[in-house]
Amino acid sequence: MHTIFIIYGSTWDLAKRKLFPALYNIFKYKKWLEIDIIAVGRRNYNDTEFREFIDKETDEFIGKSDDFSRFLDTINYSKVELTNPTDYANLKQDIKKIQRKTSQIIFYLSIAPEYFDAFVDNYKHINIKKTKIIFEKPFGTDLKSAKKLNTKIMEVFREEQVYRIDHYVWKEAIQNILAFRFANIIFEPIWNNKYIDNIQITASETVWVGDRGWYYDKSGALRDMVQNHLFQVLSLVVMNPPSMIDSDGIRQEKLKVFRSIKLWDNYENNIVFWQYNWYLEEKDIAKNSKTETFVAMKLEVNSWNFVWVPIYLRTWKALEKKLTQIVIEFKEVPDILFKKFWNIEKNRIILEIQPNEWIDIHFNIKENWNSQEVERVKSKFEKELESKEAYEKLLEDAIISDKTLFTSWEMLEQSWKIVDNLVNCKNDCPLIHKYPKWSNWPIASDYLLENDGRKWYESK
Ligand code: BG6
Repeated sequence: MHTIFIIYGSTWDLAKRKLFPALYNIFKYKKWLEIDIIAVGRRNYNDTEFREFIDKETDEFIGKSDDFSRFLDTINYSKVELTNPTDYANLKQDIKKIQRKTSQIIFYLSIAPEYFDAFVDNYKHINIKKTKIIFEKPFGTDLKSAKKLNTKIMEVFREEQVYRIDHYVWKEAIQNILAFRFANIIFEPIWNNKYIDNIQITASETVWVGDRGWYYDKSGALRDMVQNHLFQVLSLVVMNPPSMIDSDGIRQEKLKVFRSIKLWDNYENNIVFWQYNWYLEEKDIAKNSKTETFVAMKLEVNSWNFVWVPIYLRTWKALEKKLTQIVIEFKEVPDILFKKFWNIEKNRIILEIQPNEWIDIHFNIKENWNSQEVERVKSKFEKELESKEAYEKLLEDAIISDKTLFTSWEMLEQSWKIVDNLVNCKNDCPLIHKYPKWSNWPIASDYLLENDGRKWYESK
């Protein structure tokens, strides 16, 4: 099957870091998925100039071999002002030049959310058969805008053409959550509120806002990471077993979780917003910006199995290490036998998603030569790192129309409902504190757990 990828936002960060590297790998290792690319942008390039640009800009992100110049030959450039109908008509001509009878056309919209509208409005000037549209996140900025956008999209496209993405679910270690839970018999019986004390999900990043200020300042960590990536991860951790490991089965169960997630109304004790201390000096940031670069929150999932289990999420930029991990902390053993005399550590299952892919189980055993004392041991399973990038897999899924991992509108709508009051808060917003860039963990979020007699689990 021949596929033409039309990459909107082709000169931007995501295209250079993720999309072109992913497309190169598909070109290189999946030759039968014949691809051509039309890079779309506002700058004045011809094909050769754009190829030179992308060659230079991707040096850091692509291990290039001899065939890279042939890959560059598959890339054409089309200048498109997003609001200019004539440019869309020209793009249509560019598509036709390389289109074959069997070609499918995949539009990848890696552009600021406010431009999705312009694309949908002007699509009528392209209106070509066999198209799919991939919408990068963020899909809207709150419930109202997301609904409006979706309604507009549905007036022009059929649902089967629309692919809404959240790249986290294509990470190998995230997909492994379901295999870990449902391909083993030993974990599921204890995977509920009878045995689990709390769940902690952390996504820390070393990167700061950099040249994405124009986007990030309107978004903040809550919209950028929590409403999508972290809720998606959470849904896989607490969902019920699906009837089938297929698109319908998984989406239905995830949706049920999204319907059960509840934020506490009392923001003061349950949500912490922080901002790194030189954020205001970054490019394109409002001088008095109150945008959070760190968020920690406590929430609950009101499902039969997880009600009463506190769930703590936290994510932030410009910290000293990158780490995405899920910690399942189990309840204490009864205060008799060993626990009567010693401070026994809780059992934990730790799923590290990145930078390493680890599953680590903590349990207690008897200490040598001592009749009753116990010590904690860790049994760590380390998975070989998956070389394939999440973006490569998601582009492949779009090529073969496998929608299992794409976000349904119902899920998206629900995720906006959960945070809608918070993202639109006026006088009752959580306070913004400052934390030093490259610092250790922001301490304010420790109180979230300390108030409950708990602690964040920090891996050594
Ligand atoms: C993106 C956010 O969706 O995810 C970025 O917009 C963030 O701000 C990125 O840095 C993190 O993704 P990953 O795959 O590097 O953890």
